[in-house]
Amino acid sequence: VSDDRFSGSAPRFDEVEPAAFDELPLWSAPFGLRLLEMVELRPGLVALDIGCGTGFPLVELAQRLGPGATVHGVDPWGAALARVGHKLAVCGVGNVTLHEARAERLPLADGAVDLIVSNNGFNNVDDLDAVIAECARVARPGAQLVFACNLPGSMRELYDEYDALLHERGLEGERRALAAGVRSRRKPISVTSALFERAGFRVERIIEDSFALRFADATAMFAHFFMSIIFVPQWLEVLAPALREPVFTELERRLNERARIAGDLTLTIPFACCECRRTGEGSFGTPGPR
Ligand SMILES: C[S@@+](CC[C@H](N)C(=O)[O-])C[C@H]1O[C@@H](n2cnc3c(N)ncnc32)[C@H](O)[C@@H]1O
Repeated sequence: VSDDRFSGSAPRFDEVEPAAFDELPLWSAPFGLRLLEMVELRPGLVALDIGCGTGFPLVELAQRLGPGATVHGVDPWGAALARVGHKLAVCGVGNVTLHEARAERLPLADGAVDLIVSNNGFNNVDDLDAVIAECARVARPGAQLVFACNLPGSMRELYDEYDALLHERGLEGERRALAAGVRSRRKPISVTSALFERAGFRVERIIEDSFALRFADATAMFAHFFMSIIFVPQWLEVLAPALREPVFTELERRLNERARIAGDLTLTIPFACCECRRTGEGSFGTPGPR
């Protein structure tokens, strides 16, 4: 079998499909770069990416582990998996198996996996306890699990202004709904990591960091595509339809004033990366296959 990896015949970058270059959503990058620093990379591993979405870190991890490894990607979002399939074909990555499934029921055998990763996946599933139980089932004793998630306090610059505005207008039920939504989506890392401990993982390392999402002002932020489809609906849903325009027009005005004084609108995103190890009979901390 000829080995053409070093033949110099690889296409130039502008001859391949652009899909090969837009693999990583920018929002996912700061979390995912830390996650990729923490995972153990060994040839031959069987890995699993939970909530792989459009392929991150799945496609990158598969390539970093090399062709001898197998990487499973699980996500219920079929259209995103079709996109991943296209990227895999464009990039010639052949060691990925995609599963259109929910992580509450993983289509994998007991003890089949050496490494589990999830980049902002666990904080998006419906039943985190069930997902963690499934991780414990499919992880072999000694398997590593690394996940990244954003933390309470995310975008506090916006939430503080929004909360103050709701308070001024006597919208106390809406304030409570806003706070409850944040609490349900962003748990302290001590709470999430304790769930893994209880399910049979040992938490070995937690790093906390933050990054700044900067915009010229709130007008730019509200119109930004990713913000408008992911976050703005969460902020609007606490308001009755008739209140949305007046409240958001005022919120935009106040945030724009802040941006004018500060020079930009910065939204701070605190996040954590947590590394766990599957415990197990006689195998505590055993290294994976080489
Ligand atoms: C914030 S996105 C993260 C996607 C990707 N990991 C990234 O970093 O760009 C969360 C993903 O979790 C997926 N998801 C939602 N519910 C899920 C479930 N029950 N099991 C597995 N994945 C789920 C969503 O479809 C979505 O692709």
